[in-house]
Amino acid sequence: MSGVVFRVAPGGSLSGTLRVPGDKSISHRSIMLGAIADGVTRVEGFLEGEDALATLQAFRSMGVEIEGPQAGRVVIHGVGRDGLRPPQGELYLGNSGTSMRLLAGLLAGQPFDSLLTGDESLSRRPMKRVTEPLARMGARIDAAEGGTAPLRIHGGSRLTGIDYPMPVASAQVKSCLLLAGLYAEGRTCVTEPAPTRDHTERMLEAFGYPLHRDGASVCVEGGGRLTATDIHVPADISSAAFFLVGASIAPGSELLLEHVGINPTRDGVIHILRQMGAHIELLAPRQVGGEPVADLRVRHAPLHGIEIDPALVPLAIDEFPALFVAAACAEGRTVLRGAEELRVKESDRIAVMADGLRRLGITAEPTADGIVIEGGALRGGRVESHGDHRIAMSFAMAALRADGEVVIDDCANVNTSFPGFAGLAAGAGLAIQVSDDG
Ligand code: S3P
Repeated sequence: MSGVVFRVAPGGSLSGTLRVPGDKSISHRSIMLGAIADGVTRVEGFLEGEDALATLQAFRSMGVEIEGPQAGRVVIHGVGRDGLRPPQGELYLGNSGTSMRLLAGLLAGQPFDSLLTGDESLSRRPMKRVTEPLARMGARIDAAEGGTAPLRIHGGSRLTGIDYPMPVASAQVKSCLLLAGLYAEGRTCVTEPAPTRDHTERMLEAFGYPLHRDGASVCVEGGGRLTATDIHVPADISSAAFFLVGASIAPGSELLLEHVGINPTRDGVIHILRQMGAHIELLAPRQVGGEPVADLRVRHAPLHGIEIDPALVPLAIDEFPALFVAAACAEGRTVLRGAEELRVKESDRIAVMADGLRRLGITAEPTADGIVIEGGALRGGRVESHGDHRIAMSFAMAALRADGEVVIDDCANVNTSFPGFAGLAAGAGLAIQVSDDG
């Protein structure tokens, strides 16, 4: 399958001032919480990518009036905690794991039935991690064989709060259970084995919903109400990551990335790159709507391989494809362990990155829970993104250091998280051309 193809001429550098699109995780949550709040929620900086739009469309299908998005502005006319209406047909969530897992929690306690479906990739991803704890709360959900989507959620179940120690460090599982907890009787507590992104917790508080945090646990009491608020979505650090890596590896580069979210549960990419020798400065750190934000200045710097601290894995979980490109351009060996979750993302990111890096002449050995990459000279070649947006954008940046053209197949899904990527990257100096080979 080729579909949308990126062709990136080798070499060059990145420079200028950029603002990458809004944070995907925060954009999803703004729609979900705005929809079930009392009053009108105004969102700015909303990510107009396919994943967040799938969430938006799902709530429209459940009777929520939503204006926009227009230039990142969305106005959500909240229907209140019990105001959602039965959707007409299935809720198709495309490629979006966040939509499916969080909605499963939110819909488990509704009085109506719903059917959650997704594309081929989403229909392969593990859903038992949410359906099992939801079933313990009293939800009735039928999945396909193997526990995957489509998920048929039977309405009218009475949910009861549970105390759930999560077996995987997953913000999606945590958020799913907290959203179900809003509709459950009593208290729902989730304990994480390692810190994961806390946007749901921050946003629930911004909507006036009390949370109880105690160490690695977070709890909600069911039955409360959310009050509409204004939300400012910062630029997505996961999208900025491609530019942090690109500017770090390409001699002569200097970029200013504006208004990037630097929530400490998301900033692992900055720590890992700095440990590799990257030159990244945080300018004008500030708080915007309950989330920390800064402008990031990044300059080219020679990188060296490191052993990545497994504690940083959940804090950089979406940035590893880009970090693997940094490792390929670094001097020496980079070792990643404790990252088996990468195998169940939009693609098996360990296998797919190892395969692509090898095609570009790099020694990359996948392991069960990580990868070992020997830095070296990148050559040109043709790689397959397997429909995974972050793989496609990572290999586009690799061309900055390749000695020949890098061609990347199957790039349409870049629109799930980063509409306009090619244009923004070209403006900064990446010699990228996009074609649609049907
Ligand atoms: C997300 C959490 C992460 C991340 C995904 C978005 C979220 O998944 O990979 O892109 O918005 O909660 P896990 O929590 O399953 O690791």
